[in-house]
Amino acid sequence: MRSLLALALILGTAARAGESPLASTQELDAGRRVYQTQCASCHGSRAEGAPNWQRPDEHGEMPAPPHDREGHTWKHADGMLYRIVRDGWRDPFNKTQRLTMPAFGRTLAPAEIRAVIDYLKTLWTPEQRRFQEAESRGEPYPSEAR
Ligand code: HEC
Repeated sequence: MRSLLALALILGTAARAGESPLASTQELDAGRRVYQTQCASCHGSRAEGAPNWQRPDEHGEMPAPPHDREGHTWKHADGMLYRIVRDGWRDPFNKTQRLTMPAFGRTLAPAEIRAVIDYLKTLWTPEQRRFQEAESRGEPYPSEAR
């Protein structure tokens, strides 16, 4: 119920600002399911990130960051976020070579990767969403996900 209310508020704000509307409710529901089954174990069930996510852990690896408004996911364009989820990611300064953020390109379909990213956008402030939307004009989702 609370998330429905939040979505209604976000949609209202988007309409007022004359922005392109958010993804459909159906896509966002699918994205939320993907998040809970594939991402929450590391990034937190409320996308709050791992504890002490801002510092390297005892292995010298960066922990999973939040995806909500406290994190920095909103600073990346759609194209970049899509690549991170499809191909995986590790901080170049990690002390290990391990791919700490796993690649989901073989587990998730392009539409599922897009849905989970679009779901994360519902966790951001209107200002963060506007910033991210502008960034994404220069680096949109790849054609496989459109
Ligand atoms: C096994 C744990 C694990 C799982 C599962 C996981 N991640 Fe991550 N993820 C990480 C770690 C660790 C990082 C940080 C990597 C670094 O910076 O070195 C990360 C980083 C990211 C980033 C880039 C950082 C940012 O927010 O700017 C995105 C985007 C991301 N993950 C999305 C996802 C999504 C979406 C899923 C589910 C489909 C997912 N992750 C599942 C561990 C995980």
